[in-house]
Amino acid sequence: MKHPIIRLLATWTFAVLASTALAQNPAPAGAASAPAVNSLATTSGADETNAQRAKSQPYNNAPFWRGVRESGNQPGYSSLPGAEKGVLIQPFVQYPGSPFTTAGEAWRQVRNNLIIPYGGALLLIVVVAIGLFYKAKGSIGLHAPETGRKIERFTHFERAAHWTNAIAFVSLAVSGVVIAFGKFFLLPVLGGTLFGWLTYALKNLHNFAGPVFAVSLLVVFVTFVRDNFPSKDDLVWLAKGGGLFNGAHVPSHRFNAGEKLVFWGGVFALGIVVVGSGLVLDQLIPGLAYGRGDMQIAAMIHGVATVLMMAMFLGHIYLGTIGMKGAYQAMRTGYVDETWAREHHELWANDVQAGKIPAQRTPVAPHPQQPAPQA
Ligand code: HEM
Repeated sequence: MKHPIIRLLATWTFAVLASTALAQNPAPAGAASAPAVNSLATTSGADETNAQRAKSQPYNNAPFWRGVRESGNQPGYSSLPGAEKGVLIQPFVQYPGSPFTTAGEAWRQVRNNLIIPYGGALLLIVVVAIGLFYKAKGSIGLHAPETGRKIERFTHFERAAHWTNAIAFVSLAVSGVVIAFGKFFLLPVLGGTLFGWLTYALKNLHNFAGPVFAVSLLVVFVTFVRDNFPSKDDLVWLAKGGGLFNGAHVPSHRFNAGEKLVFWGGVFALGIVVVGSGLVLDQLIPGLAYGRGDMQIAAMIHGVATVLMMAMFLGHIYLGTIGMKGAYQAMRTGYVDETWAREHHELWANDVQAGKIPAQRTPVAPHPQQPAPQA
């Protein structure tokens, strides 16, 4: 346990476990060194102690705060429904060699000293890497001229599902970044009052965009899963890095192996973790206790998974906008030129040409500016 990160995590885990155990098995009355805060107000002995102390040391309210802290060991009465409502602050935990006095403080240290700096560093590294890649390679364009013949790549439904999800994601990402990192780059510029209001508004936006993201993510998953199953051609694509670095042409089906990795890693795996932990934080899953320890665990999982998800989708958003010519148009209008299809997804273009996949799936006349495909 030499490494400071491992020590910090171990300390936090111990603190939460100990606090949960204490909350479940409060110390018997009289065993605690000071009474719980609620009983503190009504226990005559404590009142006496406080009264004497108030006379001899007028400004010393340490016994009161000790009582507040010990309410974790001996919960007081509260008419509010829900877990730990009679506990004013998370149980006091004394464990060897630790600088922390409470599980809440241990959690705060893990958040502020691990998740925030390492998460922020990862996001910055990804942004800089994408910037350098764009500077070196520019936007991936077409080698042959466009034919004017269009293939329908995404239906209305697919685009509606995608953009609902993307708008919810961007709202969550922007509000989440301000909540987590805003105090470093916005607070000095906006000042406390404006930053406070902005963060409060974005926190509410975050809470409501979360369920929209959850539902639309499920729709996106069901809509696109069929064309994201792995195929043996994906191995070739991966081995050649999709030709992203040397410009080589690597054939792929409707979605290439890179897109499939984002789909299974970002949409599916991280999606489950991000949405699951987010629903816990929104207290939307019935039957859970929502104690402080539960919320701390959910917050940590959510923080780590969302940073990874943002890092992944930064790459996706880059290639879907400035990184590749024609990609954004595909998701906006639903159509791609035959040359685009052949240069980026040759096996898919072949299947369309062979009639295995219809070039026009939407059974309506296309927009006049998007001529019907001539197979
Ligand atoms: C501003 C944000 C986003 C932009 C600009 C964007 C852009 C695009 C574009 C242009 C495509 C078409 C790529 C192609 O033709 O192969 C696409 C496909 C796709 N996008 Fe996005 N996207 C965004 C956010 C998201 C988010 C947040 C998700 C899910 C969490 C997502 C999931 C998908 C999926 C599943 C596909 C189909 C390709 C596949 O299944 O691998 N997108 N996106």
